[in-house]
Amino acid sequence: MSTTGKILSDYRRHVGDFETVDFVDEDAIGALRQRLDVDVPLDLHWTWEYGSEVEELRNLYERGKKGQWNAETDIDWSTPLPRDEWFMPQKGALLMPSLLLDAGVDEATCREAAWDEFSHLISQLLHGEQAALQLCGQLTNACPTMDAKFYAGSQVIDEVRHVEVLSKFLQRKMGVLHPIDPTLKVLLDMLLAAPTWKMKTLGMQCLFEGMAVGIFDQIAKATTNPLLRDIIRRVQIDESRHAAFGILSMRQVVKESTQAEMEEMEDFAFSILEALNANQQLDMLRRHGPKYGLDPESVVGIMLSLPEWPVINSEVFMHTVVPNLKRLGLITERTEPQWRRLGMIHGDRFEPVEVQ
Ligand SMILES: [Fe+2]
Ligand SMILES: [Fe+2]
Repeated sequence: MSTTGKILSDYRRHVGDFETVDFVDEDAIGALRQRLDVDVPLDLHWTWEYGSEVEELRNLYERGKKGQWNAETDIDWSTPLPRDEWFMPQKGALLMPSLLLDAGVDEATCREAAWDEFSHLISQLLHGEQAALQLCGQLTNACPTMDAKFYAGSQVIDEVRHVEVLSKFLQRKMGVLHPIDPTLKVLLDMLLAAPTWKMKTLGMQCLFEGMAVGIFDQIAKATTNPLLRDIIRRVQIDESRHAAFGILSMRQVVKESTQAEMEEMEDFAFSILEALNANQQLDMLRRHGPKYGLDPESVVGIMLSLPEWPVINSEVFMHTVVPNLKRLGLITERTEPQWRRLGMIHGDRFEPVEVQ
């Protein structure tokens, strides 16, 4: 498998036949995290058309206004998240506790691993929310229609609320905030620095919002903690509106695109998600695995060798992002075999999430 032209080609390694993205150099990771100022191109676009031109977008904006909630006062923050109780299934939902339980490790240690892994996941979602906030701010400048500016403006406050609610959850209930994973930092910077509003919308609104909807849904279905479930459900309702914004905007973009532009977007979507998939949780495992005697590469090797790996791995992709890209014509016969080969598409379930 060639590494030419791939994102993060310097960090590619192999576990068996599978090509991973794996950061092992702490200095490189530190340098990425210290990169706080990012130079992003931004085309500011005025419009004098204040009436609604895209009715579906204006309706979505109305839904957004009605769907506002207050992260401080609408959440019952007195609900506990006890550290000595399971709040996610012991097996199947999180990687480290599942492996440790199978290995006969005592339950208290497995719960501790679940705590580390889950707080790591929520920390990454929080950093992603900050990126969404910044990107959405860019979209208010760059989008061509007033409807899109209205919607992007309303999404800005949604993303502020998500940053607020997840950071408060980590601070008040988990007592820890993990730094951003290097792979995620690189990919988010790429989306934030995408040159046009079309690419920014595709990257953030379709790819990352779509992934977020899948991850939030998995957590909401799995958790037994009422506080966590309430927070995730609320965020999820907002996120599905955001994903709908992405689809509505992209539907228009696709209509106006040439074949060459379509192929460019198709390749961009694939390369971003391919790099994310190539990490296979190695960033998390490098940080937390050694504490539990887990060797990151061995864990990935075990996972990749499971017969059900394509089903497990493709779940989050197949939830929203793949059906939406398929529907937009951004996964075609040209690229679909690669998605399948890398375990990002499995089976034939392509029913898209309905945009209302
Ligand atoms: Fe969000
Ligand atoms: Fe969002």
